[in-house]
Amino acid sequence: MKRQIRKAVFPVAGLGTRFLPATKASPKEMLPIVDKPLIQYGVEEAVAAGVNTLIFIIGRTKNAIADHFDKAYELEVELETRGKADLLEVVRNIVPRGVECVYVRQAEALGLGHAVLCARPVVGDEPFAVILADDLIEEDASEGGTLSQMARCFNKYQCSILGVERVPHEETNKYGIVNPLPFASRLNNVGGIIEKPKPENAPSNLAVVGRYILTSRIFDLLEHIPRGTGNEIQLTDGIAALLNEEQVLAYEFSGRRHDCGSKLGYLIATVEYGLRHPELGSRFHTYLRELTGSLGEAEG
Ligand code: UTP
Repeated sequence: MKRQIRKAVFPVAGLGTRFLPATKASPKEMLPIVDKPLIQYGVEEAVAAGVNTLIFIIGRTKNAIADHFDKAYELEVELETRGKADLLEVVRNIVPRGVECVYVRQAEALGLGHAVLCARPVVGDEPFAVILADDLIEEDASEGGTLSQMARCFNKYQCSILGVERVPHEETNKYGIVNPLPFASRLNNVGGIIEKPKPENAPSNLAVVGRYILTSRIFDLLEHIPRGTGNEIQLTDGIAALLNEEQVLAYEFSGRRHDCGSKLGYLIATVEYGLRHPELGSRFHTYLRELTGSLGEAEG
């Protein structure tokens, strides 16, 4: 019987040091792009791909995420009393009907591999998705969200799949880079994977970004991975071990990615989503034109 992806893991227990002090009391995945937190974009992408169980790996700032996805009785009553039906709808539909949220505590930030391992009791022996919500990926108009694209690929090949993107050669040292062995259009067999190689040592410029579909075999491997870079258990090391046992594919998704874990990427995403926002896009566009015009005059 063909297996399907029903569970998605959202590791949100990182320290988020690049965004301090904003991330002192709240995870970076709660940073909003215009009016929605990053984590909600990730959840919407997962639900659109057929996921019905959302597993959040939470850390020291545990309440913010759970509060966001919990029912907010007082707020709903208040919005109802004030006749704000549209906002009430928005607040009520943050988690669609039939979708369950589960929270697992990662007591110490021991790395992404360790965060994924914390999901084991909830995931069991099913294949599952991992979404790093600070990689915000725009939905492709014809192919849909990135996880939907990857889930279709999983339905066909029934093996682990890494979401990959071509990055400039000089930036390979920021990513896990795969050694690609051609398999099909936009699809490579992963022959190897190296975490943050210098450009001269990188086997390609195909970088793993924050979308994974993994078989549950990864859990056994992560249990035995020694701590790597930064004294953390690296997911990349687990995947490198998985490759020795099973087929792993690298899928070049279609969709523009914003690295919202970096301040510049976050600002760019805010501007681009702001420009497309149905209520304020056109006014924001006018404002930016005026601003860039006056900046141009000042420079000239
Ligand atoms: P990052 O490498 O972006 O680290 O984590 P970070 O701590 O969140 O941010 P910076 O670099 O200090 O600014 C990648 C993803 O893995 C999660 C993070 O929440 C993020 O989604 N993560 C990382 C955990 O859940 N637990 C960990 O121990 C480490």
